[in-house]
Amino acid sequence: MNAELAQNPEAKGDKHEAFPVVSVNSRIAGSGMHVPERVIPNSHFASYLETSDEWIRDRTGISERRWVEGTVGASELAEPAARRAIARAGLKPEQIDGIVFATVTPDYVFPSSACFLQQRLGISGGLAFDVNAVCSGFVYALVTADALIAKGLCRRVLVVGADIYSKIINHNDRRTCVLFGDGAGAVVLVAAGGDEATGSAVTGGGGMIRGIYASELGADGSGTDILCTPMGTAAPATPDSLLTDAHYLRMEGREVFKLAVRRLAEINQHVIEANGFSLEQVDYFVSHQANRRILQAMGKNLGIPDEKVLMNVERYGNTSAASIPILLAEAEEQGTLTKGSLVALSAFGGGVTWGAVLLRW
Ligand code: UT7
Repeated sequence: MNAELAQNPEAKGDKHEAFPVVSVNSRIAGSGMHVPERVIPNSHFASYLETSDEWIRDRTGISERRWVEGTVGASELAEPAARRAIARAGLKPEQIDGIVFATVTPDYVFPSSACFLQQRLGISGGLAFDVNAVCSGFVYALVTADALIAKGLCRRVLVVGADIYSKIINHNDRRTCVLFGDGAGAVVLVAAGGDEATGSAVTGGGGMIRGIYASELGADGSGTDILCTPMGTAAPATPDSLLTDAHYLRMEGREVFKLAVRRLAEINQHVIEANGFSLEQVDYFVSHQANRRILQAMGKNLGIPDEKVLMNVERYGNTSAASIPILLAEAEEQGTLTKGSLVALSAFGGGVTWGAVLLRW
């Protein structure tokens, strides 16, 4: 059963403002994150490359990142994040009926990391598949899960973002290797209508309806070259490619930077204002964590106060599909996000791809 819930336009929120009518299919019921123990400070790179802690901090805002040790698959990294999100939602793993797993560094080419995670959680029967939208992966996965719930195919979906870029970066390329960290984050998305497992209490502070209000996704395949990891059927690994490091991630950083700033500002504005809300009504902007300067420029373009743009890029670097759910989980844990917070998620990444979601926590 999918319930459509209308929010009373006369209802007064915490800010004593009227909000538009919304209908929701699903809401986030819990979040979790997990990063490897091993901390890689900027000094690691300065020890063997022509770079410095100062350059990395100034140009990216990153001080340290986490990298796995040895061989760890995306599903292994994701398991603790998933278990935490499920527990925070007040559920047990066997109550999850779908897993949508965003990653570009899966355990294997196939089966999917979603199926490996299902196995790790000791569950079966529900659907499970991976989503590849690079740094926009989590937003794509969340919107997909919302649609699955709207169609009545699932009621409690585990949405995961997990990536292990330490295995696909060229550790001798200072332009890229300093940027990326490994990590995993997850949320549980539940049907917004009544549910025997999660209850039907869907309102937050001020009686406002909690859940996903609006979303949009986009892609422009003419940008495949500016950020890619050319290893696959069109570029099989050969002795020569291995010797020349041809199969590692490569990026035209300046180009990606410019596109990211412009697109993130545009999609935030669109997903918020096209749905009758104002930028001022949004409590927090949770955007993909690639570079502090990108986030600051996005905030400036939107004219929003710095403190509304949440950040943790300093501690984890760019964790690709994991960055948004890690930030959400930290913000929930720290009490920054509370029931009823109006949150705008946004991401931009390889493909190029982008996506945004407006939701009430
Ligand atoms: O997750 C979504 C995708 N990723 C992103 O959104 C990342 C987008 N791009 C960026 O964040 C930035 O473009 C970078 C952090 C990658 C680069 O910063 P930048 O300010 O755009 O630097 P740049 O590429 O314009 O390079 C400036 C200089 C160059 O030297 P020359 O050619 O001017 O002599 C680079 O070779 O900085 C040099 N450089 C470095 N120097 C010290 C590049 N990387 C480094 C480094 N240490 N690690």
